[in-house]
Order: sequence, then C-alpha cells, then structure tokens
Amino acid sequence: MIRPVRAGWAGAVLVCGKCSKKLDGGFGKGGRVSLAKALRKDLGLKKGRKAALGVVETKCLGVCPKNAVMVVDSAQPDRWLVVPAGADLDEVEAAVFASVPPPG
Ligand code: FES
Repeated sequence: MIRPVRAGWAGAVLVCGKCSKKLDGGFGKGGRVSLAKALRKDLGLKKGRKAALGVVETKCLGVCPKNAVMVVDSAQPDRWLVVPAGADLDEVEAAVFASVPPPG
C-alpha cells in the first residue's frame, strides 16, 4: 500500500554530490563546504522533510561540468544550472529559486 507522508517543502533543489566531491567542497570559507550545505546554512534550512525547502544531494546528473556543480530546481526541470565553484551564494539563490522565493 502506498501512503503519503506530509512534508514542509515548498520545492526541492537537487545538487550533484559528485560534483561537490570533485571540488572537495568548493563553497564557504576556504572553499571546503559543499554547495548543498552552504545553501542550507545560508538559508537557515533544516535537513529532512520538515525543512521549508528540500536541498538534496544526488548522484551524478550526467553533465559533469569542470570546476562547477550541477543544480536542478524541481520547479524548473527544463533549466539545469551549472554553478561555478566559489560563486556568490546570493547569486546562486537568485538563479536557483527564480520560480520559488527562498524562505526567510
Ligand atoms: S559529476 Fe556532477 S553531473 Fe556528473
């Protein structure tokens, strides 16, 4: 039997974990923090289904850009984003959440 589980997510963002691993982080102080972690921290998001937005690390998304991380906003599945390592988080959030305003 399939049953639904309630979640607080207004949207979901997929972040390639393999890109982040290849960069050894790439964001935050000293460039050692993954983009998913940096976004969650900057937006004050919890992890898991009770967060206001889901920021989920995935396996390889098949694009594999050099010195960048692939990101997909579930609200814009036809517009994937290549986020360069060390990119300004405000700029990343504006691009990623173009259709869904970020919380806070
Ligand atoms: S390693 Fe990130 S898209 Fe392939």
